[in-house]
Amino acid sequence: MSERAALAQEFAVAAAAIAAMLGGVALPAALSQAIAAAAPALPADSLPAVQDIAYRSTRQLGLCREVGAILNAHPPAARVAALQIVALAQLIEPLRAAAITVDQAVAGARLHRMTEPAAGFLNATLRRFVRESDDLLARAQRNQEARWNFPRWWIEQLRRDHPGSWETILAASNQTPPLTLRVNRRRFARDDYLALLGAAGVSARPVGPQALVLATASPVTALPEFAAGAVSVQDAGAQMAAPLLDVADGMRVLDACAAPGGKTTHILELADCEVIALDVSAERLARVAQNLDRLGLRAVLQEGSALEPQTWWDGIQFDRILVDAPCTASGIVRRHPDVRWLRRRSDLATLSARQGEILAQLWPLLRVGGKLLYATCSVFRAEGEGVVDSFRRTHHDAIRRGLAWRFEGSEAPEQVDQLLPRADPLRDHDGFFYAMLEKSV
Ligand SMILES: C[S@@+](CC[C@H](N)C(=O)[O-])C[C@H]1O[C@@H](n2cnc3c(N)ncnc32)[C@H](O)[C@@H]1O
Repeated sequence: MSERAALAQEFAVAAAAIAAMLGGVALPAALSQAIAAAAPALPADSLPAVQDIAYRSTRQLGLCREVGAILNAHPPAARVAALQIVALAQLIEPLRAAAITVDQAVAGARLHRMTEPAAGFLNATLRRFVRESDDLLARAQRNQEARWNFPRWWIEQLRRDHPGSWETILAASNQTPPLTLRVNRRRFARDDYLALLGAAGVSARPVGPQALVLATASPVTALPEFAAGAVSVQDAGAQMAAPLLDVADGMRVLDACAAPGGKTTHILELADCEVIALDVSAERLARVAQNLDRLGLRAVLQEGSALEPQTWWDGIQFDRILVDAPCTASGIVRRHPDVRWLRRRSDLATLSARQGEILAQLWPLLRVGGKLLYATCSVFRAEGEGVVDSFRRTHHDAIRRGLAWRFEGSEAPEQVDQLLPRADPLRDHDGFFYAMLEKSV
């Protein structure tokens, strides 16, 4: 029997997480903090609901903030504003009668001393929203940030970078992402695992050579053979990296920004390589170890910075290097909706400078004739073509090679570089940038 807390408490905990996120904390960490602060009163059965409420609120944040700006005579305190955002998001995408949402939001306000005095204010503003929602939403949506639920600078940057498709990118980025699996080729052919899922009553469809999208998300640990390493969770766009890297048995491969190891493990599923998995974070490197263990694979784990190879490199050059560089994550916002609110416009220049520096530092580690795949999960030009163009201006031995990919359901391979997020049945993937650089004599 499910033992959930009252909706009022779930709203209050989600609002605490939203308030922390608006203060600069990443949403997963903000949720952990808010849930820990509510324990032991919050039952485990309420955790998925709290997470769902917080993620929906984050996806609707621009619109809810603008509606709040119209409704509120004065800006409310941070925690009250967060509770109002949570309730408005639930009213905009209704899962239940509006009166229940309003009552429970007001009851949620009464649960905490910081929001208790604002219970009447919340009651009045939310009831007004219910009465006048069409008009209030139309007025709010005149503001671009509310219309798209993205910060203004982000929208402007996308318009500049992708004049013909910025609206499609924003719309795709606001979708709820699917759960995508990568079938471990060493254990199962993709279609054999698809049949195994079908026999277990789990419906899925193929979206890549090893990629399956589940019709409805379910706990991965309950999937057939999960613990034995049959599948991993990985977006179909991210699953392109290892095949594009063009690895073969016996190669020495550097995965330069490896954690949590999604691409490290994929490389090792494709070929018997010697892989050095480098990451600057020891904590995140531990997750690479866990993933390797579950899949029964081996790599050398190296803690260190790609910016300082002299501190960890043994002097033996690599046949292949994957640089999955730290970036704005603008391509994966459907999975991480908080990213858009946490990033600042200035991050773009800082990150693209670091990406260029990582490339420059790692280039000497590649043997002549070797290949380096530069990747980011970004749709901003500055982190893709911009980085590669300026790198090639100073590195004349770097030859840019085309990258071809045959998408599910299409006859011929297509050139890929900037992959835009899409949610079509046969092409369901996040946004990525890929560029292959080969070292000439
Ligand atoms: C985009 S994530 C990598 C995702 C990973 N390739 C995968 O597929 O699971 C970027 C990683 O780069 C690491 N990182 C950031 N700066 C770094 C540096 N200077 N040297 C090495 N790793 C770095 C971060 O800790 C993070 O784990």
